[in-house]
Amino acid sequence: MTDGEPRADGVARILIGDQEIQLRIGEMAIALDATYGDDVPLLVGVLNGAVTFMTDLMRAMTIALEIDFMAVSSYGAATQSSGVVRILKDLDREIEGRRVVVVEDIVDSGLTLQYLLDVLERRNPRDLRVVALLKKEKPNAIAVQVDHIGFTIPDEFVIGYGLDYAGKYRNLPYVAVLDPRIYAGE
Ligand code: PRP
Repeated sequence: MTDGEPRADGVARILIGDQEIQLRIGEMAIALDATYGDDVPLLVGVLNGAVTFMTDLMRAMTIALEIDFMAVSSYGAATQSSGVVRILKDLDREIEGRRVVVVEDIVDSGLTLQYLLDVLERRNPRDLRVVALLKKEKPNAIAVQVDHIGFTIPDEFVIGYGLDYAGKYRNLPYVAVLDPRIYAGE
């Protein structure tokens, strides 16, 4: 266990503790501030999982910025990527000529991000970058653009810090491996 966090039911082990996450986000925020300066980037959070990361990241940044959200669906309640991506909520604004930063909680198969980047690129932003808190080490994942990665993690089902299993566990302050007995129905 890291950072002395109490472990919730359903947690097999804590992978990244609360303080470790916040420290890394601070570093990522400094890098983003330096990249965008006075250009007022639009941070696009991918609902629902990226909400926690988005709110911490934007508060750690000190430059002027705007935010918007997209919602896409790929997983359902399953623990494996289905490969099906659809837009449930689109951006509220045009992004033509804007500097856009896609903010993701996790890149797993890469399917969601690849789809989002295709959609957003067609809208002619000035540039389009990706910040992901987590990237899974997965040999068969799509080689998709991720400009800033918080942590590279093993290919296990993770929960917490925005990430869910069947809608639950998003409010855990740390990233943890789900106890396999939960999805085995034991
Ligand atoms: C998760 C996560 C990413 C995506 C990554 O979202 O937030 O968007 O899956 O997986 P991939 O790289 O295999 O496509 P999910 O569809 O579970 O929705 P959620 O954010 O509401 O949990």
